[in-house]
This record gives sequence, structure tokens and C-alpha cells, in this order.
Amino acid sequence: MGEFELGSSRSDPLVWRAQTCWSKTRQGRAGIVRCERSTVSAVNLIPDPFTAPPLNWGILGTGTIAHAVADAMANGTRQRLAAVGSRSPARANEFAAQFGAERAHGSPEDLMADDGVDIVYIATPNSAHHAGARAALLAGKHVLVEKPFTLNQPEARDLADLAAERKAFLMEAMWTRFLPQQIKLRQLIADGALGELVTAWADFGSFNPMDAEGRFYSPNLGGGSLLDLGIYPVSWIVNLFGLPGSIRASGLLTQTGVDAQMTAILEYPAREASAVAMSSIVVDTPWEAVVAGTRGLVKVPRPFWGPSSLIIELADGTIEEWTAAVRSTGYEYELAEVATRIAAGETFSPEMAPAESVAIMGVLDAIRAQIGVRFPGDNTHA
Ligand SMILES: NC(=O)c1ccc[n+]([C@@H]2O[C@H](COP(=O)([O-])OP(=O)(O)OC[C@H]3O[C@@H](n4cnc5c(N)ncnc54)[C@H](OP(=O)(O)O)[C@@H]3O)[C@@H](O)[C@H]2O)c1
Repeated sequence: MGEFELGSSRSDPLVWRAQTCWSKTRQGRAGIVRCERSTVSAVNLIPDPFTAPPLNWGILGTGTIAHAVADAMANGTRQRLAAVGSRSPARANEFAAQFGAERAHGSPEDLMADDGVDIVYIATPNSAHHAGARAALLAGKHVLVEKPFTLNQPEARDLADLAAERKAFLMEAMWTRFLPQQIKLRQLIADGALGELVTAWADFGSFNPMDAEGRFYSPNLGGGSLLDLGIYPVSWIVNLFGLPGSIRASGLLTQTGVDAQMTAILEYPAREASAVAMSSIVVDTPWEAVVAGTRGLVKVPRPFWGPSSLIIELADGTIEEWTAAVRSTGYEYELAEVATRIAAGETFSPEMAPAESVAIMGVLDAIRAQIGVRFPGDNTHA
């Protein structure tokens, strides 16, 4: 696998500044520092989600994440929830009433046929992402699809090809990439503040009670720690280091045959670096991330995958904490990115392009092959 270029940073004319800087030396002398004078906290540009032009959204699925994203849409953006689609008319009506959606569709097909919907957000289990996104693209919609992008790389490639053919916008909803602290972290690395990157590690473990039919444990729904939670540390490392040259992975399986836990070492022989991603569905872990280079390191406190801060420790002894005010749950940043790109006539975001999602699904496939997890859906497309 070749190395992936870092995504280009956005230079949006409509920006807002919301950062606090705090600094002390390693000897313990503490005090507020002016951000503009700080080595590592130069002026930062984070897009304001409220400035993104409104789109008409349709949400497919009425579960946990559909609720969280509809909430962020209502409270953190100017985006319009035009419609919701569910396999159940009752659940569609209930969801529409709760979030003020204009139309409630009692079948996915009716949502896809809704002419008042510009973009469909796919909020169904992992195993249903490909079918939902494919149907939406064929219906002429733009698509934002929950993470992991698909079940496997062949499904991912199929979606990317179809979107390109249809000239539709397509993106994996890896919201972490658009959070203020992640934009700031990419900026620090691009500015050389950390020197050459050498290592990183990130974990996402969350206890989920055994439920053989539930989406965490069922192979039929694309369960297991890697696809549900491990995608975050893997995608975070790839965002900073690019695609690994090689991978070594180890995992423990549940009785249902999905991974209860996995640890993957992503190796970058060309840059003499390596990084560790860890996930679990059977224990809680700290949800922290660290990236270290020749000139310093950055810690991303819990939860590194959601709105968080940065603790920047440089080799010269400077320690700074950087925090941005987040207005809602944090999903508003990805929604705004999608709306801004589509309004500009673009078909992808350079921060999470379909080609990169396809490549990341290849990394997840390689890890699964090493730890021995296969899904029924792998047979359909592989
Ligand atoms: N970005 C994040 O922070 C985040 C957080 C959690 C989960 N996720 C991702 O979001 C997706 C959904 O997770 P969730 O926690 O919201 O799950 P969930 O609570 O089970 O909701 C999924 C919804 O999809 C529909 N659905 C259920 N089974 C289906 C099937 N077999 N085929 C088609 N549709 C089905 C159901 O809606 P109807 O009954 O109304 O059709 C259900 O409410 C997963 O891919 C997960 O990885 C992302």
C-alpha cells in the first residue's frame, strides 16, 4: 500500500475563532499566554457550522445515531431535516414529530423517491450501509454514510465508482476529521511543530453486554470492535500518517465470531514510524490518543474521537492546552462540511474523500483477515 497524502487544510473565508491557550513550563510556572505569540497556537481557522448553506436532508434509519445527528442538525446548523425514512411508518412518524421533519416515510424506497431531499444520511447498521447508499445514489441523491463506510473494500469501491459515475457527493461520516481539535492538530503537524512523526496510539473500547442479535455482536450486521469502534483509531492514525505500508494485528473473538477486541500495529517503513490502534466491545478503555514526533507530542484527551482538546508538549519544555468551543454535539462540523462542498458543486471533501474511505476499508479488511473475522456479506461482493 502506498502512503496517503494528508488532506489539504480548508481556507474558508467565513471563519470563527474560538480558542483558549494555557501554557506553563515543564518546571511548573503556569500562566495564560496570548495565542498569537505562542509557538504552537497561531491563529486558527475553524469553520462556523452556522455559515454553511442549508441543504434538504433525508435520514435513513431512526436509531441512536440518527437521533444524535438530527439533534446536531437542529441545534448546531442551519440544515433542514426534510424527511426521514424507516422500515416502520410508526417509527418514521415518531422521529419526524420529535425533530420537526417535514415528511415521514414508512419505507426506505419512499425516502429515496422524495424529490424534496437533496442528500440522504445513511444511519443504518454497518451491513446495510452499502445497499442504502447505493439506492440513494441511484435515486439521484448525494450521500453521507455512517462509519465504517461499508462492510468491506469491494462494497466501498462500488459506492465510490457509482458516485463518480453519477457525479454525486459521497462521504463517510467520520465526524472526528471535522472537529476543531482535529483541524488544529493537522495544522500543527503541517506547520512542523512536532517535527517528523514517529509514533501514535489511540484506543476506543466500550463495554457492550452480550447480545448475539445486536449490532455489536452479530456478524450479520457487521459487528465486532474493529468496524464499530476500531475504525476511529485506525482512521485517526491514517489521517495523520497516511496509509500504512504493512499491518500486524491480533484479536480475540466472541462466541458469535466477531472480534471482541483487536490491536493493530500500522507500520510505515518508509518514514521509520509505526502506530497502534486498539478497540474492544467487552471493556471500557480511556478513549485517548497520542501522536509523537521528533520535536514534541500531542495528547488528545478523552474522547479523542469526539469534541476534545489538545495538550501540546514540545521538546523545548513548552506545554500548552488548546480548546475550541463546540456549539452542539460536534456532528454539526461534518454536516456543515458536506453542505458547503455540495453548495460549491463539489463531489467530495478532501478531508474524507471516497478514495480514502476505500483505502481505509482495505486496512480494515487486512486486519480482519489476520484476526479471522468474516461476515456473511463478504461473500456477496468479495
Ligand atoms: N458517528 C457516530 O458517532 C456513531 C455512533 C453510533 C453508531 N454509529 C454508526 O451508525 C450506524 C447505526 O448505529 P446506531 O447505533 O444508530 O444503530 P441502531 O440504534 O440499531 O439504529 C439503526 C437503525 O437502522 C435501522 N435498521 C436496523 N436494522 C436494520 C437492517 N438490518 N437493515 C436496515 N436498517 C436497519 C433501524 O431504523 P428503522 O427501524 O427505523 O428502519 C434502526 O433504528 C452504525 O453503522 C454505527 O457504526 C455512528
